[in-house]
Amino acid sequence: MNINIVVATEDHYQYAEEICETIYQSAIVRGTGIAKRTPEYIQNKMDQRQAILALDNSKFAGFCYIEKWQNGEFVVHSGLIVHPDYRGIGLAKKIKHFIFNYTRKKFPEAKIFGITTGLAVMKINSELGYKPVPFSELTEDQDFWNGCKTCTNFNILQSKQNKMCLCTGMLFDPKNKKNSLNRSDTNSFDKKVITHLNKIKEILHLKSKNDSDNSQIKTI
Ligand SMILES: CC(C)(COP(=O)(O)OP(=O)(O)OC[C@H]1O[C@@H](n2cnc3c(N)ncnc32)[C@H](O)[C@@H]1OP(=O)(O)O)[C@@H](O)C(=O)NCCC(=O)NCCS
Repeated sequence: MNINIVVATEDHYQYAEEICETIYQSAIVRGTGIAKRTPEYIQNKMDQRQAILALDNSKFAGFCYIEKWQNGEFVVHSGLIVHPDYRGIGLAKKIKHFIFNYTRKKFPEAKIFGITTGLAVMKINSELGYKPVPFSELTEDQDFWNGCKTCTNFNILQSKQNKMCLCTGMLFDPKNKKNSLNRSDTNSFDKKVITHLNKIKEILHLKSKNDSDNSQIKTI
């Protein structure tokens, strides 16, 4: 296996279709629903040099792209996908480290954030120095939150006025001096925090589901 991670360009247009299909199929397997991407959108990201591609020689292995919000005050790494044939060998971690370092060079002032239910992504984000934060710390750009419309949990997000959902928000703030890369101790602390957060969210989700089943309105 000879996997190369590169900033995608027009030379990689041919992969756009496979990237979209792999993201779509993985979302079906996870049962999560996901913001829908078109091959044209992915190609546009390649044009802007805001897409990262992992290739095993010429075979598609992984992908992630950059989106900017609020005039570049915030940057998100979206659409992370590792082809099923290449999972479990540390490729997502390599892609995320690559795109993180690339973003820090390209947009040094930007706050970098993500929202995810995926433990793998939470682990990697923690290593990179992201902290779990409430959604109020993330972008207020409605277009970003509109991207959640195709997620199966969108009704929960809406019912909480975009303040919380099953995803955990994680933020890297370049102005935070304590942002050194997390290794050993702090990393295991963050894992505990994240696991705890997820449990709370599951309970909240079940509670709000039961409440609506009983036709009662309750704000948590
Ligand atoms: C999630 C995904 C990107 C992980 O890719 P990967 O290359 O297999 O991940 P890595 O091998 O780099 O693993 C990184 C870390 O996450 C852990 N991990 C990987 N998959 C995991 C899973 N399904 N559940 C829990 N932890 C997981 C690994 O053990 C590793 O942890 P470690 O550093 O403590 O050893 C891949 O499974 C995927 O593409 N899934 C479908 C799309 C998706 O969920 N995207 C994320 C949207 S937010």
